Amino acid sequence: MTLLWALRSPCAFACPHCYFGTIEEHKEAGLPEQAGVLSHLSRSDLSAQALAAFARTLVGSPVERVIIAGGEPLDWPATLGIISLIKDAGCQVVIATNGVPLTRPHITDRLVTLGVDGVSVSLDSADADTNDQMRPSRSGRFGYDDVLDGIGTLLRARGDRPTPRVGIYTVVTRSRPQEITDVARLATDIGVDYYVPQPISLPPDHRLFDALSHTAGDVAGVDEQLHRLYRDPRGLTLPNPSYLRRFVAAISSHDSGRVPGCFGGASLFFIQPDGSVWDCPSDRRIAATPPERQRTIRDGDARTLFANRPTGTDCALFSRDCVNMWPLVEDMPQLLNVGVRP
Ligand SMILES: C[S@@+](CC[C@H](N)C(=O)[O-])C[C@H]1O[C@@H](n2cnc3c(N)ncnc32)[C@H](O)[C@@H]1O
Repeated sequence: MTLLWALRSPCAFACPHCYFGTIEEHKEAGLPEQAGVLSHLSRSDLSAQALAAFARTLVGSPVERVIIAGGEPLDWPATLGIISLIKDAGCQVVIATNGVPLTRPHITDRLVTLGVDGVSVSLDSADADTNDQMRPSRSGRFGYDDVLDGIGTLLRARGDRPTPRVGIYTVVTRSRPQEITDVARLATDIGVDYYVPQPISLPPDHRLFDALSHTAGDVAGVDEQLHRLYRDPRGLTLPNPSYLRRFVAAISSHDSGRVPGCFGGASLFFIQPDGSVWDCPSDRRIAATPPERQRTIRDGDARTLFANRPTGTDCALFSRDCVNMWPLVEDMPQLLNVGVRP
């Protein structure tokens, strides 16, 4: 069983397309009321004590893998202690990061000694200026060069050890399908192990929806790039080839598709920074969760929260929002592929 755990809300980046929205819009308009809304404002984030208390209950629970995301998990000092508790519970740990904290050797050294299994670094373009437009830092002081520096620092800290495996995640937008293969080339050059391009997912009322979201006319270009990537992965580990079909299906329509026996709510759960537990992070699935099924890790125990799960439920809400869940659940053993490197 995999937990996607958005540990804390704050982030030093202000990506305008982020699932968490932007601080400016939430300060101006206030936080939307509905359940599951994410924000970089941390007003309702659980305390370090509450998060650690839940992490201690992972021992003997069905949870096998925890993907730690956010917000930016590695800017918060308490994260390393929580990772330690999760590893003590015998779970695999993968961290999703903007990459800048990896420039600090005390962090990379700690990730190596804690035995973190994977570190997924976000980089949206092989071109520095384009990446820094997609992923601007709030201070304007950090960007592409720091991300590459962070990846290099982590790879050096790992040295000859097999872990952590290091990956790049790239958000693919409608105007730049070529990033799929351009970032792969860069990833190989800098010694990265795995690579996951993922389609941008925006709600139709998002101000960047028209500019960034794929339309039917963009599908052929993406399909061609994905096939090129899978024909020549340049030594990178990629998600299983079925990912390619799912990626293309997701950007081909804005309607919902069907997933028979979906792992959401069976072998995948999503925890948001206020402790709410959802079957998956898809906004459609969260919106469809009845109030009596809303749960929290606050004072909760993983051994009881995740007991009695279904083996898989048919879900009629497949969208671009969920494509990148397969790499977290079904493809992760392949992406982490411990033992391949000497
Ligand atoms: C929300 S971030 C949190 C972890 C970390 N701060 C980071 O930058 O990777 C996790 C991943 O979600 C991606 N992401 C954010 N908003 C997205 C969107 N609207 N569509 C697709 N991916 C998105 C990011 O690019 C990143 O790879």
